[in-house]
Amino acid sequence: MLFIVSELILVMLIDSHTHLEMEDFDGDRDAVVERARQAGVEFMITVGTSITYCRKALDLASRYGEVYVAVGIHPHDVKDIDDGTYDELRKLVAMEKVVAYGEIGLDFFRDLSPRQVQMERFGEQLELAEEVDLPVIIHDREAHREILDMLGSRRERLRGVIHCFSGDLTMARQCLDLGFSISVPGTVTFDKATELQRVVQYVPLEFLLVETDAPYLAPQPYRGKRNEPAYVVKTAAKIAELKGLSWEEVACQTTKNAKTLFGLNGRDRPGGSSLRPVGLPSII
Ligand code: NI
Repeated sequence: MLFIVSELILVMLIDSHTHLEMEDFDGDRDAVVERARQAGVEFMITVGTSITYCRKALDLASRYGEVYVAVGIHPHDVKDIDDGTYDELRKLVAMEKVVAYGEIGLDFFRDLSPRQVQMERFGEQLELAEEVDLPVIIHDREAHREILDMLGSRRERLRGVIHCFSGDLTMARQCLDLGFSISVPGTVTFDKATELQRVVQYVPLEFLLVETDAPYLAPQPYRGKRNEPAYVVKTAAKIAELKGLSWEEVACQTTKNAKTLFGLNGRDRPGGSSLRPVGLPSII
């Protein structure tokens, strides 16, 4: 008797930036993680923004196999950094399942910490990320020039991703030249997100990650509702449409990119490659 078993190819995605530790998920976190599994999310990186949230993120990582953690202090909260904070961060980054340092950066839109303080603490945290040899997750809102300057001055020692990319084509090119990847949020599904859509069309798939930034920034058709990791599927589908590729190609390549950057291949340290794009068409 002959059994023909068709080979089942599972296409998986990685939500490279979510905030599963936030209170928004306290009521139904198990169900949120289960929906992500059902949607084909293989791993998710939950990103701590303060010491308290980093600890909570690590606790979640010990409960859910597919949850990995980024540790760092968000620019909104850097005004609260004191002498003990960096000692604590050093302990936290050494914990199992920490795969990145972040999110760190500059937020000149909301200005919840004074700009000068943001710049100083960003520099200190970049230094710490280098010291512990982790890729960085960068938050940039209306601080493009300063972000590029600060990353550029450390380009040989840093690697990472610009999360929730909000720059234009020129900035995208500059980030790629620095060896950084670009992470695409669900807002790419909005009709008015034309600049981000142009960036997605321009940047080679090998340098794109997908993210939700849940509970924020839900994609269409969930706009205005709470976002969750399962919805990263919508972002991958939009990228496929914009680039004229199949959904499977986008899922496979962005997953490979995230695994390489964050060392999720089961054997690598978070490291990523020193790959830089060659032969990109000029923007102008
Ligand atoms: Ni975030």
